[in-house]
Amino acid sequence: MGKDREPPTAGAADAPDAGGPQARLARLEEERARYLSLLRATFDAIDEGVSAADLDGNILHHNRRFLEMWSITPEIAEAEDSATRRTYLARQVVDPEGFRARIAELYANPEAEAVDVVELKDGRVFQRSSRPYRVGTAIVGRVWCYRDVTEQRRAAAALEAARDTAEAANRAKSTILANVSHELRTPLNAILGYSEMVEEEVRLQGLPNAAADLEKVRGAGRHLLALINDLLDLSKIEAGRMDLSLETFPLAGLLEEAVATTRPLLAGKDVFLDVWAPPDPGELHADLRKVRQVLLNLLSNAAKFTSEGTITLEAAPLLRDGEEWVALTVRDTGIGISPDQQRHLFVPFSQVDSSTTRPHGGTGLGLAISRRLCQMMGGDIFVESEPGRGSSFTVLLPRVAGSAPPSGSSLSEGGFRLPG
Ligand SMILES: Nc1ncnc2c1ncn2[C@@H]1O[C@H](COP(=O)(O)OP(=O)(O)O)[C@@H](O)[C@H]1O
Ligand SMILES: [Mg+2]
Repeated sequence: MGKDREPPTAGAADAPDAGGPQARLARLEEERARYLSLLRATFDAIDEGVSAADLDGNILHHNRRFLEMWSITPEIAEAEDSATRRTYLARQVVDPEGFRARIAELYANPEAEAVDVVELKDGRVFQRSSRPYRVGTAIVGRVWCYRDVTEQRRAAAALEAARDTAEAANRAKSTILANVSHELRTPLNAILGYSEMVEEEVRLQGLPNAAADLEKVRGAGRHLLALINDLLDLSKIEAGRMDLSLETFPLAGLLEEAVATTRPLLAGKDVFLDVWAPPDPGELHADLRKVRQVLLNLLSNAAKFTSEGTITLEAAPLLRDGEEWVALTVRDTGIGISPDQQRHLFVPFSQVDSSTTRPHGGTGLGLAISRRLCQMMGGDIFVESEPGRGSSFTVLLPRVAGSAPPSGSSLSEGGFRLPG
């Protein structure tokens, strides 16, 4: 073809396409090839095995990971038709019939999207997802995506097994603790009873040194008994075997009694202890023994950690969302608790500072038990304290246990205004 037969305008009007339709085609072809290799490289780089098929299930394309996951050599991939390949895959799975049925089901329903799990005979587990392959709005095939989730599954199963073991061990621990505590109490009570008798006897015979020693034996025994009782309570709560025995009782009597029981702990100290309550603080429907136990723990803590000043037990009615609550606050002017230490207060066995609390004894279980007892009755305990200035512990209980929604931590965000 002579040069003069080309359209005379071609060169000037289509400057970027200089070279004519042949060259243009070649450039487009080259561009297409470049895009295809980019797509292929991207496709081959992903960690999921992907294959795309037409509506009849004939494989159009797959990535390298797909071949790897299913142990298909490139030669096999080239040579096989779709039916043979499907058989090849099905042979590797635990449930070949189910595998084929699912594939057939999805091809029968071009719109369908599905995610399921395929277990292989060699122990691997693939998550398979399948969705329609669209060109514009038309569905022209189906894309299959396989992700190897074997490790994930194994880790999840191991975690679950570990959790089950830990839970079983925890239950066993609580049961053993409950049984052992119970068995320990019986002989200990005998030791306490007999040492009291012997102490009296020894005193009568005029042996003051021996009597003082026996008094120490009894003191140690009482401490041990308190410790065992706390352990028993905690293990019962943790094993879910602590029951409530609800009754209605007047608050005033309980407050007076708790303070009277605490008074001897302050003998020889310059501490003023009193009840502050409205003339008639009303009644509470709760477990009387447990409320008493909580108040005595708070009061004995206050007595332990206050060397001068005042300790008060205050009662105040509260209303929230139409529900009646009672706030019982034990306030002291003792050593106080730092904000950092306050965070661990209700954790079993945690005592703020073993060096300062050691002279005071205790087990570090009282507050943990107290909080759980309050929570069982639908309430909670809060602390406010400033080191060196004192502490206040507030027990919040529904006026009628069981009438308010169960609380837990939600109480602290519930917009209560504590008295004070
Ligand atoms: N009113 C208080 N003032 C200062 N510290 C307190 C007070 N109440 C509790 N604590 C601190 O919290 C710790 C835990 O108290 P508790 O759970 O009752 O256990 P325990 O009385 O057996 O030590 C105490 O050892 C003490 O360090
Ligand atoms: Mg205590």
